[in-house]
Amino acid sequence: MSIVSCVTVTVPATTANLGPGFDCIGAALTLYNEFKFTRLDSGVIISVTGTGAQTVKTDESNLVYQAFVTFYQHLQQTPPPVKIEIKMDVPLARGLGSSATAIVGGLIGANLLAGEPLSQSQVMELAIAIEGHPDNVVPALLGGCRLAATADNAWEICEIPWHNHLVPVVAIPDFELSTKEARQVLPTQVSRADAIFNTAHLGLLLRGLETANNNWLKTALQDKLHQPYRKALIPGYDAVNSAALATGAYGMVISGAGPTLLALTDELHSQAVATAMTAAWKQQGISAIVRSLSLDTQGAILTIKP
Ligand code: HSE
Repeated sequence: MSIVSCVTVTVPATTANLGPGFDCIGAALTLYNEFKFTRLDSGVIISVTGTGAQTVKTDESNLVYQAFVTFYQHLQQTPPPVKIEIKMDVPLARGLGSSATAIVGGLIGANLLAGEPLSQSQVMELAIAIEGHPDNVVPALLGGCRLAATADNAWEICEIPWHNHLVPVVAIPDFELSTKEARQVLPTQVSRADAIFNTAHLGLLLRGLETANNNWLKTALQDKLHQPYRKALIPGYDAVNSAALATGAYGMVISGAGPTLLALTDELHSQAVATAMTAAWKQQGISAIVRSLSLDTQGAILTIKP
């Protein structure tokens, strides 16, 4: 086994939930963070550049380093001295899985430097345990759109077919929303009617994503478990939703815990949807960056130097 001295891990952004798939479905998007790990003789050096870099901690509380340390604790080993260089393109605390990129990046970097003692599925299980839910870390690691279900402490991960006409348009506002705050507003109990609503809509969503059937997607992207409670935390939600639907989106959802709003549309309508979402938010006095993305199908990618 050769000793790796330097590895770069590129990890995609992710959008979790896709409406009715709360905490169980997510898709990787073509927007990336990059993490470079270099062995040192002593110490820990962390540097961050790119989007939101000034707000990321560069001491040992950094989430990438925390995941790196957790990996070695899991093996009951001492983490080695390391330099971690982070290049960010995924905005922080916007519902696009920036924390998941950090966790997946930290674990993969650690696994490589340690000589790959853990399999990909063991790394995935550790990532799910750190994040607390699978819907960002699984697609960040594996790419594509993924459904995760657990039984007897094991995870079944299923790739969900994604029609190549589907274009996710993300509207990223210039304010943050912490996942913690967005989870605190959710009820701990839901009615049977709401549970049935989401069960049916998630089933329809899977077929809608596979076929790009307009009517199925329009209905399927609705949810009763989290969005009705969270939209109050996102000023302009109703206006941006109406603008997206009026210009040809199949539907619009809160990306992850928000505040980014994600419209699913097709190539023909994506420009009009992006322009309308930007304008609707601007009218509410909120500036947003809007991007038409694609599904990332590769997940985390490694570049290794021996
Ligand atoms: N499924 C999670 C949530 C994603 O909606 O709270 C955020 O990390």
